[in-house]
Amino acid sequence: MKITAAGGSIQDQKVDTLVVNLFEEIKPGGATAAVDEATGGAITRILDLGDFKGELNSTAVVYAGGIAADRVVVVGLGKEADFTANKALQAAATAFTKARDLGAKNIASIAFGAGAGGLQVAEAAEATALGAILGLYRFDQYKSNSGEVKKEVQSLKIVEFDRSKVRQIRAGVGDAQILGESVNLARDLVNSPGSHLTPTALANEARAMCKDIGIKCSVYGPGRIRRMNMGALWGVAKGSREEPRFVVMEYEPQGTSRGTLAVCGKGVTFDSGGISIKPGSGMDEMKMDMSGAAATVGILRSAAALELPVRVVGLIAATENMPDGLALKPGDVLTARSGKTIEVLNTDAEGRLILADALDYAHTFKPDAIVDLATLTGAIIVALGHEATGVMSTSTDLVDRLRQAGDYTGERVWELPLWDEYEEAIKGKIADINNTGGRSAGSIAGGMFLKHFAGDVPWAHLDIAGTAWSDKGKPHSPGGATGVGVRLITRLLREWTKPPVANSS
Ligand code: BES
Ligand code: MN
Ligand code: ZN
Repeated sequence: MKITAAGGSIQDQKVDTLVVNLFEEIKPGGATAAVDEATGGAITRILDLGDFKGELNSTAVVYAGGIAADRVVVVGLGKEADFTANKALQAAATAFTKARDLGAKNIASIAFGAGAGGLQVAEAAEATALGAILGLYRFDQYKSNSGEVKKEVQSLKIVEFDRSKVRQIRAGVGDAQILGESVNLARDLVNSPGSHLTPTALANEARAMCKDIGIKCSVYGPGRIRRMNMGALWGVAKGSREEPRFVVMEYEPQGTSRGTLAVCGKGVTFDSGGISIKPGSGMDEMKMDMSGAAATVGILRSAAALELPVRVVGLIAATENMPDGLALKPGDVLTARSGKTIEVLNTDAEGRLILADALDYAHTFKPDAIVDLATLTGAIIVALGHEATGVMSTSTDLVDRLRQAGDYTGERVWELPLWDEYEEAIKGKIADINNTGGRSAGSIAGGMFLKHFAGDVPWAHLDIAGTAWSDKGKPHSPGGATGVGVRLITRLLREWTKPPVANSS
């Protein structure tokens, strides 16, 4: 889909579909009023009839004369007082998917929320274009071509009446393209089956992205992983016929850098549970256990392409977690790269093992902050469902920033504590620590474990097990992989003026 910006009047556009919007309880204004007038009041009519009220993400389709377009899709923005950039994105996604499903090929629309919504023009254009790119995403690589013609939008033109604002629209669209393509890249990786997206393939995809965008990338195989003393990662990896990979991606800004963020992603390309094997039902979903790694690839891509003024180092620990004659066994003890010994009580708590070595390695880049993204625990779904990512941290400052970024993007985070009292649960019997915390506070136990490897650098652990995958989907996320984390961390980086401070204690 080609997205362009142009000056002009929306009602004059020679396309098959116009998309306009409306707040609840407010009369049409701006572009919507112009289309209403051109069509002889067709939009006012559906409002007067009460067929359409402008509720958020509700749509109406209007067929009327007076315009070149075959149809007008009207979408609700909800109450003006509750309006945000994220709602503009959602409404845009809703409207453009509706138009696509009706067979729209060429669409003209406006920047959602730039007028009455009070958003900056570039911000509104970004939200609109991002809604289109994220909402129209499909993963159909594995569908055989059955001759059925796919409905696909070919072009979207964002029209602005005030020609002096077209430049800002274009800038917003450009940023949306970078962000949207980065999120969709992460989604593609997560949706790919484990047999295709092996650790080797994941590393190759990361390397290809880095080459494409022009940043540094190093990939280490089993030999280097063992020589780097990554005993915890190797412990998980040795139970699989697929070789593990450790990936380091580095984005360095051209001008002055405002600091360094290290991002660590869990890259378990398939989690069977290992010897502590998972039950069969729903196990197919465990191909998504590399969602943190996929987000890391997307974050590096967007940070570099947006030329953000922060150095970002992306680290991916990629492996399968399989049962095998050589696999890790409950009761085994591993020595992590940091020297800490770990008693493995459950081989299905593998994410924290591989991240232990990634977090420890992250310190070699002298980061100002570390963030890890991991589908770490089923317990986070019990606690927060699918609406929020769990965040556990050693820096209130970093959590505040993540919360703000989450509220802005809609990729919301909710904090869980890492109090010393929780340490008891992971005390080792024969080693320093064990990898499971028993039945209570499962997500926190994971966080407490990782804290041992995070050091003194402000660090936040994001448990995305509930947010990385969506069965039902949302307007801007059609089901399956969500690509969560890419927009969240890119927003954190865009708002980054100085490094976060650690808690004093
Ligand atoms: N990959 C899973 C967590 C997960 C669960 C991700 C559901 C996405 C959806 C993780 O490796 C795991 O198996 N965690 C265990 C930890 C337990 C053994 C301490 C869990 O949550 O049961
Ligand atoms: Mn597991
Ligand atoms: Zn896992």
